[in-house]
Amino acid sequence: MTTPAAEIQARTLAGYADASKLRQEHDRDWVLGHVPGQPETLLDLGSGIGQLLQAALDRFPTLRQAVGLERSPHRIAEAAERLRPYGDRVVLHAADLNAPEPVPYQPDVVTMTSVLHWLYPTEERIVSWVRGQLAPDGSFLLTTYHPVPDEHGLGGEDEIVADALTALGVVRRDDVPGLFAAGGVLPIATRTRPADDLEGLLGRYFRVAEVHERDAVVTVDSAGQYGHFHAATFGDYYGRLVEPARRPEFFRAVGEAAWRRQEERGWVSHMPVWLWRLTPGDQRALSREE
Ligand SMILES: C[S@@+](CC[C@H](N)C(=O)[O-])C[C@H]1O[C@@H](n2cnc3c(N)ncnc32)[C@H](O)[C@@H]1O
Repeated sequence: MTTPAAEIQARTLAGYADASKLRQEHDRDWVLGHVPGQPETLLDLGSGIGQLLQAALDRFPTLRQAVGLERSPHRIAEAAERLRPYGDRVVLHAADLNAPEPVPYQPDVVTMTSVLHWLYPTEERIVSWVRGQLAPDGSFLLTTYHPVPDEHGLGGEDEIVADALTALGVVRRDDVPGLFAAGGVLPIATRTRPADDLEGLLGRYFRVAEVHERDAVVTVDSAGQYGHFHAATFGDYYGRLVEPARRPEFFRAVGEAAWRRQEERGWVSHMPVWLWRLTPGDQRALSREE
């Protein structure tokens, strides 16, 4: 299959299976490797194209129900296709995790990989919702990314986009934070809260049973590969900062900016990722709400 142009990919978030090999794929086995025991019901939040659900179904024969909650209809359709062979062991729901509705399951495992920053600044809603849904002896496993923010709150992907916008002559480097603000783009390094802040937030609802950290290093084989990774991962989140006619140029420039970094440093980006395993336990927030 030929890869569609990045600007088309961005509209439908297509090509994620390939793109996620660069960064997000590593989270799946890492998270599933920390699931205690043999789960019967697993709920994956922001389930994307269903890769974690598939890996869980293959790994845990005890899994009777694998449930995905996801907002993008394109991704739900791709997940449904991927998971068809598993029949009624799989259920996919369209859902907005910013306003989660009760679901008729009491999962013994809830997972959420590479999603929490998209729910900023109202992440507490999903955390409290999981606390209410999870079985009393269950585990909530999630991964969180921690790019280092600069004084304007930009870091990680924001910097690559800033390089691209500057190279295209859209804006001077110093004016990038202003352009983001005017275009309604909250920097990703602001969305990804520091681990200490998250610990406070998560600890209001859960006991932190385990925390692990790894360094996620992204390297690519070409500028084009990174342009496609960006489009499949971020869609038009940043692309909307340029007019539609310039989007093909924008994705090309993002790829070229990433490639320049790789040539200079040997990698494109590099950031800590945390894996949290949380268990119900601390009732502080729940009792405060009563
Ligand atoms: C970076 S992808 C991660 C996908 C998958 N969990 C993985 O690890 O490969 C983020 C996913 O979260 C979904 N998402 C973002 N905001 C959401 C929301 N408010 N409600 C539901 N899903 C959301 C996106 O559509 C996307 O599929």
